[in-house]
Amino acid sequence: MTIISPSLLAADFSRLDRELERITNGGAQWLHLDVMDGIFVPNISFGIPVIQSLRKISSLTFDVHLMIQEPLRYVQAFADAGADVLTFHLESSSDPDATIEAIHRCGMKAGISIKPGTPVEAVFPYLNQLELLLVMSVEPGFGGQKFMPECLDRIRALRQKAPGLDISVDGGINARTGADCREAGANVLVAGSYVFGAEDPAAAIASLQ
Ligand code: DX5
Ligand code: ZN
Repeated sequence: MTIISPSLLAADFSRLDRELERITNGGAQWLHLDVMDGIFVPNISFGIPVIQSLRKISSLTFDVHLMIQEPLRYVQAFADAGADVLTFHLESSSDPDATIEAIHRCGMKAGISIKPGTPVEAVFPYLNQLELLLVMSVEPGFGGQKFMPECLDRIRALRQKAPGLDISVDGGINARTGADCREAGANVLVAGSYVFGAEDPAAAIASLQ
């Protein structure tokens, strides 16, 4: 069964409680939370206090995608805020092993994400320490971008190498690109504008499954 993780970045930030209700009633299991620091990516989104507040009103699995420099510094803080899965960018960390270890020590599942230009082989040394791989299908930083089909071969290569891991894909996902990703081996689909922008989020989520 494919897990759908709607990306909060595309929600109406003035009505977050209502937005969460829409996707929860629509059948989402996970909530994707994009944290950006304006340094690792050229954009700033939201951070720890927002996640902490949403934790009080939601029992979805919080799938936190860190796009911040040296994420190890904030692992404990995201655990305390209520993250369930904590994913960081391989390109952002000077010590991926210590970061994965800290994530586990804090009781969370650990994920590594790679940008479209990073060779998939770069994550091979970490595969047996991780629960999730997040393959970017756009350059990280902004929602609403066009899906890069080159990611499909990358998903296939990772699925072959890591049959038991959650493989998630993020950026430009809709019913058509989502089907291609599923076929390539992804089992988690992150979708921002396609789900939150939909008049009927339940139908959008069902079309991704
Ligand atoms: C981009 C973020 C994505 C983004 C996806 O850096 O990681 O999660 O919200 O948005 P859509 O689905 O609109 O491309
Ligand atoms: Zn994301």
